[in-house]
Amino acid sequence: MSLTNSPDPALREATVQQDLKNVLHPIVQHKVLESKQIVVAGGQGSTIFDADGTAYLDAMAGLWCVNIGYGRTELADVAADQMRELAYFPHTAMNAPAAELADKINGLMGGGYHTYFVNSGSEANEAGFKIARQYMKHEHPGEWRFKTISRYFAYHGTTLDTLDAGGMGERKAKFEPFSGDFVHVAQPYCYRCPFGLSYPSCGLACVKNMENTILGEGPETVAEVIVEPVMSGVGVAVPPDEYLPEVEKLCRKYGILLHLDEVINGFGRTGKMFAHQHYGVSPDIIAIAKGISSAYMPIAATVVKNSVFESFYGDPSENRQVGQVNTYGGHPVAAAVALRNIEIMEAERLAERAAEVGTYFLDGLTDLMRHKIVGDVRGKGLLLGIELVKDRVSKEPVDAATVTAIVDFCRDHGVIVGRSGGGRRYGNTIVFSPPLVITRGECDRIVETLDRALTALPVQ
Ligand SMILES: Cc1ncc(COP(=O)(O)O)c(C=O)c1O
Repeated sequence: MSLTNSPDPALREATVQQDLKNVLHPIVQHKVLESKQIVVAGGQGSTIFDADGTAYLDAMAGLWCVNIGYGRTELADVAADQMRELAYFPHTAMNAPAAELADKINGLMGGGYHTYFVNSGSEANEAGFKIARQYMKHEHPGEWRFKTISRYFAYHGTTLDTLDAGGMGERKAKFEPFSGDFVHVAQPYCYRCPFGLSYPSCGLACVKNMENTILGEGPETVAEVIVEPVMSGVGVAVPPDEYLPEVEKLCRKYGILLHLDEVINGFGRTGKMFAHQHYGVSPDIIAIAKGISSAYMPIAATVVKNSVFESFYGDPSENRQVGQVNTYGGHPVAAAVALRNIEIMEAERLAERAAEVGTYFLDGLTDLMRHKIVGDVRGKGLLLGIELVKDRVSKEPVDAATVTAIVDFCRDHGVIVGRSGGGRRYGNTIVFSPPLVITRGECDRIVETLDRALTALPVQ
């Protein structure tokens, strides 16, 4: 049934009542949900439909994840076929779809990697932390290398340790204290350089800060550095091109593993299949999720370089195997769906498309600089943001209420946009991460709607 053609107000009302009575939602305040909700009933391309028939252009691809767009019914056929064949068996045994998917991922990474399957981006990073620690126990027996170096204002997931690895104080405050095994360094957020410097005369002070921190902690206590190549959560901070290669050099210098979070960045989002491929680095651990299946099934993975894999290889008596298991890892149905999703991405050249359409979208957003409230426009591929400020010189962020007014205006005019996750301090960037199939016309519509939203603001 296509909900576009057949709105069902009665079903909608029943869903709202049932939901409000029974569901506990993430992040949103239920008091707000009581007065305004979207009841998603269908989707096609870059558009989702409310059960009342209202269409929304989804400039966020759900939660930065529906890369091939909505309504790909062939993935339903793949899932049904696989479910008839084999719905599930634990991944202590082998299954064909997971093996084929791992082979595909290895090829996309350029070879030399093994894939450990999990179910979410948080789990993928969490497994990365554990693999790094176990690796260090194997390779440096008697040493105590357990710390992860991460950046302020990063987001790496929702479990206690991935939250701790993240650097957003407001998100963490309700759950503190944490383990203290995650040591934070300055973020490469050039528009708001933590050192008040400008690129390139800064000499990459953020990398020097990372080295200083590694030395201060003692390299012999550090297992890994985690970096999201383009920081999404803080409002799409694109680092200078040398940043990631310089971080990699530090890791090599001190014998530390380089763990990349490609949960959002991966699968075409930034204009290449993986964001690190822009920078010519060779990470040791890569967390992937979201675009791996375009969210048609929950699946994610921790991809490890063969040099890491080899550390887990040996006689059973050595007890070197991966020291954890999860029930659904390597799920054959999710793997089959992910594999076809990637085949679609390749056939339709969606990574290249993200680069092309992303440039067009960025140009459109740059035109919005005529509004004084727009302090910065930035992005890579189809991962973009416009940062809103009270004043371009002081760069004081606009109030949360202003951001909410813009997001609500867009939604009320049929366009869903996101906002950065920096809380009260840096929640002032409107972010965009649309399906990679978005058309130029749809990008125009997003820009026009934002233009109207910014024009409608009371103070500018
Ligand atoms: C960069 C990044 N890493 C990790 C995660 C966690 O992924 P998940 O929500 O699938 O656990 C997210 C989620 O948005 C993310 O943006």
